[in-house]
Amino acid sequence: MRNLLKVGLRRLVTSPERYPVGDRNARIVAVAARKGGVGKTTTSVNLASALARYHGKRVLLIDLDPQGHVATALSKQVRRGGGPLSAVLEDDKGMEVLDAITTSDIENLDLTPLDDNLGMTEDLLGTRIGKEFILRDKLKVTRSHYDVIIVDCPPNLGNLTLNGLCAADQVLIPCDPSPLALKGVDALVDTITQVASRLNPQIDVLGVLLTRVDGRNITLNDAIVREIERSYGAALLPVRIGINSSLAKAQLEGRDIYDFDSDSRGARQYRELSDVIAAEL
Ligand SMILES: Nc1ncnc2c1ncn2[C@@H]1O[C@H](COP(=O)(O)OP(=O)(O)O)[C@@H](O)[C@H]1O
Ligand SMILES: [Mg+2]
Repeated sequence: MRNLLKVGLRRLVTSPERYPVGDRNARIVAVAARKGGVGKTTTSVNLASALARYHGKRVLLIDLDPQGHVATALSKQVRRGGGPLSAVLEDDKGMEVLDAITTSDIENLDLTPLDDNLGMTEDLLGTRIGKEFILRDKLKVTRSHYDVIIVDCPPNLGNLTLNGLCAADQVLIPCDPSPLALKGVDALVDTITQVASRLNPQIDVLGVLLTRVDGRNITLNDAIVREIERSYGAALLPVRIGINSSLAKAQLEGRDIYDFDSDSRGARQYRELSDVIAAEL
């Protein structure tokens, strides 16, 4: 029997290609943790910036967190343009994330702009067929224009985070040295395991990144590091991010750490992290 969808009907629902396909194939890295305040946004912003500045990578930074901290953290460097990511995620007529992005003063770094409606998108996605794969679909052409796409995920395990995990090749898990954050890593690794078995078999953990490490609190740090090593072994990344007030000040100023204070310890450590990650791209 003739399959109407495959012959004529399909043409009615397929929209024309809006963008030419590029010649890259981005690695998609979701930055996720089941706890707020552990440095997800600080890591997303400064890692993205270091990969663009020092490794010449074409980088796209996607803010999946309705709090919109990425655009705020780069408010002095983001240029005009782009549109809301929520409109792309809610569209079913072939829009791409490329329709949302804006450029920045940092060469090779693009990002999604501030979007007040992303919180509502979280609920709307729940009504869609294949709701976990919307972002992945919207990156099909977009990823061919970048080397790396970094996705800053919200702390809750909602539809937006699930979309981040289903689009991702790898997950970077920031964790501050506190027992609560460690529990969050356990919960997230459980989630990633389920996502791997049911939704996105190619997902992998890029690593656990210790952030906000207070050099004076040696006993607690050592205990947490031992615990992470015991549970996750090689997943613990060799670079650790110490507490550094320049990182917080840069975020408040709306500039990446390399523009704000490129000699700071935070700048050095995030650059080291970018070296580790760029080496295996
Ligand atoms: N290494 C650090 N040293 C000092 N302050 C930091 C560091 N990392 C993050 N912060 C600050 O801690 C707060 C939470 O960090 P943020 O990256 O926004 O966390 P999340 O995105 O996980 O909620 C922000 O005010 C940020 O500037
Ligand atoms: Mg954040």
